[in-house]
Amino acid sequence: MSRIPLPYNPKVMDLFRHPKNLGKMDDATVVAVAGNPACGDMITFYLKIDETEQIIEKAQFESYGCAANIATSSIVTEMVKCLTLEKAWEDITWKKVTEEIGGLPSVKFHCGVLAVGALKRAIRQYYKEKGIAPPSWMPLDHTFEEKQALEEEELAKTLSKRLKIEEEKKAEK
Ligand code: FES
Repeated sequence: MSRIPLPYNPKVMDLFRHPKNLGKMDDATVVAVAGNPACGDMITFYLKIDETEQIIEKAQFESYGCAANIATSSIVTEMVKCLTLEKAWEDITWKKVTEEIGGLPSVKFHCGVLAVGALKRAIRQYYKEKGIAPPSWMPLDHTFEEKQALEEEELAKTLSKRLKIEEEKKAEK
């Protein structure tokens, strides 16, 4: 059975083929992972932070997700460059990222949400790892994007558990 290609716009395709800031960052201040390795939709997000000014100097990512995820992760790493942590937290939303990339097929919205979820998780993690109290602009509750990342992780865990049970059942027969 052949698959119908998704209607990605040229910008998404270009960033998918030539992603910016792709790869591991050795001198990252903070690293966050979102998604689940079991299903392959996983992003690692690296931030290098100027800790005096609280500014993001650079961002990089690794992604095992789809074209939409690679393209949105790539554009997020460009959008956050030179922003303060506060501005990055407040300004970078999945809607803005989707707009910036020229739109995504609706079935692929969640891929951009996961990319932004990884960014927000990295920022939250930065304060946690440094033992600094979260700033007033950071809500204690997870944002929509962080919640979605958690939901995807839970879903992937449930699916891989089910698959394992099915495999064990088959092996017993
Ligand atoms: S990241 Fe899973 S389908 Fe795009």
